Amino acid sequence: MVAMALLLFYSVLIFPPFGLLVLAEEEYVSAIGDPGMRRDGLRVAIEAWNQCNEVGEEAPNMGSPRAADCFEIDNSTSPIKLVHNVNERDNQLGMWSGSFRGLGSIDVNQYAAWKEIYLGQKCEVQDKPNPWQFWMIMLKSGNMDTSAAICPENGKKAKPFPPQPGFPCFGKGCMNMPLIYHNYTSLQEDRGNYTLQGSFYGTWDLDADVTMAATRNDTSYYSVTWEKEIGKGSWVFHHVLKTSSKYPWLMLYLRSDAASGFSGGYHYLTRGMSKIIPKSPNFKVRFTLNIKQGGGPKSQFYLMDIGSCWKNNGQLCNGDVTTDVTRYSEMIINPSVDSWCNPDSLGSCPPYHTLPNGTRIHRTDKDNYPYGAYHLYCSPGNAEHPEEPYNFCDPYSNPQPQEILQILPHPVWGEYGYPTKKGEGWIGDPRTWELDVGRLSQALYFYQDPGTIPVKRHWPSIDLGTEIYISGNEVAEWTVSDFDIIVTKDNQ
Ligand SMILES: *[C@@H]1O[C@H](CO)[C@@H](O)[C@H](O)[C@H]1NC(C)=O
Ligand SMILES: *[C@@H]1O[C@H](CO)[C@@H](O)[C@H](O)[C@H]1NC(C)=O
Ligand SMILES: *[C@@H]1O[C@H](CO)[C@@H](O)[C@H](O)[C@H]1NC(C)=O
Ligand SMILES: *[C@@H]1O[C@H](CO)[C@@H](O)[C@H](O)[C@H]1NC(C)=O
Ligand SMILES: *[C@@H]1O[C@H](CO)[C@@H](O)[C@H](O)[C@H]1NC(C)=O
Repeated sequence: MVAMALLLFYSVLIFPPFGLLVLAEEEYVSAIGDPGMRRDGLRVAIEAWNQCNEVGEEAPNMGSPRAADCFEIDNSTSPIKLVHNVNERDNQLGMWSGSFRGLGSIDVNQYAAWKEIYLGQKCEVQDKPNPWQFWMIMLKSGNMDTSAAICPENGKKAKPFPPQPGFPCFGKGCMNMPLIYHNYTSLQEDRGNYTLQGSFYGTWDLDADVTMAATRNDTSYYSVTWEKEIGKGSWVFHHVLKTSSKYPWLMLYLRSDAASGFSGGYHYLTRGMSKIIPKSPNFKVRFTLNIKQGGGPKSQFYLMDIGSCWKNNGQLCNGDVTTDVTRYSEMIINPSVDSWCNPDSLGSCPPYHTLPNGTRIHRTDKDNYPYGAYHLYCSPGNAEHPEEPYNFCDPYSNPQPQEILQILPHPVWGEYGYPTKKGEGWIGDPRTWELDVGRLSQALYFYQDPGTIPVKRHWPSIDLGTEIYISGNEVAEWTVSDFDIIVTKDNQ
């Protein structure tokens, strides 16, 4: 009883409604531009990626798949007015307007990277210690045309190969970018109450009528709608994602990416919400998540997804895709996703599990290793000394080699505020989470070459959302609000 009460008190102290507090001489600050999503003047952008996090080809008449909705409120008028920073001309920019600013000869992938920086300039908010730009909504389709060899293999040029069930493709053009439509944020009045509302929405089915896509069978669809009462509470981001037989593997995330430098899985300079890049073990992530529809048994709903990049020798990434390695870790909370790591499949388990006090348990220690805490582990495709047995990660789904460590609700994660039982936080169980992502990410296994100095782990991408894995006609729906990343002041 006493211990419980103390624990509660402690967590209340650490997570005040505003991002700043002095606790036992240690100061906590928010790492993001809009702590708790409370700023009326919103900054949000959207990006779409193909299987290897590129564009490949723009969708017809859509421009480059980057767009933003950023505004300030002018309250000198009645009713108040929204002053948008990004207009339709900016959002429509694409290869067809490539001569804009002398970008005539740039390729389609670099154009998107440039457009992200350009939109970032329009949205940037000056702040301490660094400016920031926007939340990033990320869309990705897992379709891959193996015969076109568009995606590199572990960062090296790939050769065409015959179709495989793990790489869905309905034929030529299957890696297309989605149609992206935009309802600019506007003021809605309901009997004297004012709310702000806007959305991005669309479909990957280029021949579909988008107004019907949400309800029509076998048509892919996504939407993100944001809503907020003026001067009160948090923005609420409402997400919908629907797969189809042509687009059975789709992802939709809300990301807090680094406001400068690289972010997880993307080998171009990025823009985002994280004005401070959180470092292990000194940060926590807080948000409210309400899952309304799960997306079916193969929906890998990530309660928390963290992404970074470092080389196997422990050095920071520098854009060289043959030696840079994307590092991902995710907690999957869909209770129908099972552990693939078990004593008969050790290659799917990280070599050891680390207890909060630093004690390591090797995966061959059948009595003590928490197999059920891990869904899947895979080694970077360019690791030279992975411990046997091992599985290499998918060599195509990133511009460079990647390492993935996916965890499941389990008592061993309770220490860090993560779910300990299947079903926690799932449909019908909305929660406000206070995750000690910093300490957890410090304890997780990540590969480095033997004898190299362990990297200081930093996390330029922190996001949540779902990856519906190869299954058509599944729908996921959820809301996110109150998002914040809190770091100790010396984390900067
Ligand atoms: C108008 O906005 C300014 C700046 O955001 C704020 O300080 C002020 O309180 C607002 N006034 C009203 C009437 O809401
Ligand atoms: C307007 O807002 C107030 C306070 O939040 C609430 O009590 C009331 O029900 C709202 N009215 C409408 C029409 O939504
Ligand atoms: C966008 O706006 C149109 C016209 O007001 C509306 O019919 C549609 O439902 C909106 N879509 C989304 C996803 O908000
Ligand atoms: C929806 O489309 C899929 C794929 O074509 C089909 O298998 C399924 O029966 C359809 N469902 C309905 C309700 O029509
Ligand atoms: C670490 O924790 C485990 C489990 O609580 C315990 O068995 C072990 O003795 C501890 N080791 C140290 C060095 O404190």
